[in-house]
Amino acid sequence: MEFIDLKAQYRRLEKSIQTRLNKVMQSAQFIMGPEVEELESALAARVGAQHCISCASGTDALLLALMTLGIGSEDEVITSPFTFIATGEMIALIGAKPVFVDIDSRTYNLDPKLLERAVTSRTRAIMPVALYGQCAEMDAINSVAAKHKLPVIEDAAQSFGATYKGRQSCNLSAIGCTSFFPSKPLGCYGDGGACFTNDDQLAAIMRQTRNHGQDGRYHHVRLGFNGRLDTMQAAVLLAKLEVFDEELRCRNEIAQRYSSMLGEAVCVPYIENHNQSAWAQYTVRVPNRAEVQRSLHEGGIPTAVHYPKPVHLQPVFANLRLSEGSFPISEKASEEVLSLPMHPYMSQSDLANVANALRNALNSVVSLELR
Ligand SMILES: Cc1ncc(COP(=O)(O)O)c(C=O)c1O
Repeated sequence: MEFIDLKAQYRRLEKSIQTRLNKVMQSAQFIMGPEVEELESALAARVGAQHCISCASGTDALLLALMTLGIGSEDEVITSPFTFIATGEMIALIGAKPVFVDIDSRTYNLDPKLLERAVTSRTRAIMPVALYGQCAEMDAINSVAAKHKLPVIEDAAQSFGATYKGRQSCNLSAIGCTSFFPSKPLGCYGDGGACFTNDDQLAAIMRQTRNHGQDGRYHHVRLGFNGRLDTMQAAVLLAKLEVFDEELRCRNEIAQRYSSMLGEAVCVPYIENHNQSAWAQYTVRVPNRAEVQRSLHEGGIPTAVHYPKPVHLQPVFANLRLSEGSFPISEKASEEVLSLPMHPYMSQSDLANVANALRNALNSVVSLELR
C-alpha cells in the first residue's frame, strides 16, 4: 500500500500529461513558456484572485511574499510553531524574527485568541498556516491584523482547494502562498509553488522578484532570485487541474469514511463547520505513537508524522531560547499525531485495512499498558 499513490494518478492521466509535456519539448520553451501563463490564469480563476504568480516551490512562495512586503532585520512575523520548517525558516532567512503563537488543540492551526498579545511595535506581518489542508480562522486573524495595520500571508502550502466560509484558500488575505510539491493536493512532478493576491502592486513586485528583480530583459530594479516555475511543471499541473475537483471530492469521501470507521477508537480530525479541508493529510492522534506506528508498519501500512518536533524546538532556532513548555499544545500534538495513507485513488479495501489495522494496533497497545 502507498501512503500517497502518485503512480495510480499517473496511470489515469498519462495520456494528457504526455501530450502536454511533448508540446513543451517540441516548443523548447522550457523557461516561462506559454503554459506558465496559462496555468497562472487558470489558478487565479479557480481561487478567484486577481493575480497568480507561479514560482519554484512553496518555500519560494513564502520568501517572495515576505520580500515583497519589505520585511527584514529587526522585524517580527507572527506564525504557528506547529508546521513544516519552511514557514519559520523563511521568516528567519530574510533576517526577521519568527514569533510563535500556540495552536488550537482541535484544528492544529494558530489560535486567534492568543494572537493579539503577540503583536509588538516590531510586528510586520502575520503568517497563519492551513495545516493538513484546513484553513486557519482567517476572519479572526484578519481582524487583529487590520486593527494593527498588518498584512496577513496565508501559508496555504497544504490547502490549495480548501474553502473557508465558502471562500477559497489562497484568497483569504493580502497574499496566499501554496506549494505544488508532488504529494500536495495539487502536486507537480518536482518542485513548484504560487502566490496569489488581489493587489496589483504586490503582484508586480512578486513577478519581478521571482525573476531576478527584472522589469525588462537584463534591467534589474530590485533584488530578487531565480524563483520561476518551469514550463514542464506548469504543463503537468494543467493536466492535473482537469481532475482536481473530482480528486478533492474523493479525498473528502475517504476522510469521511475513515472518520466513521475510526471515530470511536481514536481522535479523528476535527473540521470546523465553515471549512472544507483539502485533506493534504488525514491525521489522527494516538497514545503510544511509536508502538502504534511500528505495528502498522509490520502490517504493511505506511504512516507519517507531521511533525515530530515543533519549529521552536528545532536546533536551528536555539537562538530564540524557547524551551520545552513554551507552546504546550503544539508540543503535545507533535508527540501524538499520526498521518494515515490518504489519496484520491485509495480503494475501499485499503481503507478498511488501514482502519482495522489501526484499531488492532491501538488494542494491543492498550492491553500492553494494562499488563
Ligand atoms: C506548511 C508548509 N509550508 C511550506 C512548505 C514548503 O513547500 P515546498 O516544499 O514546496 O517548498 C510546505 C511543504 O511541505 C508546507 O507543508
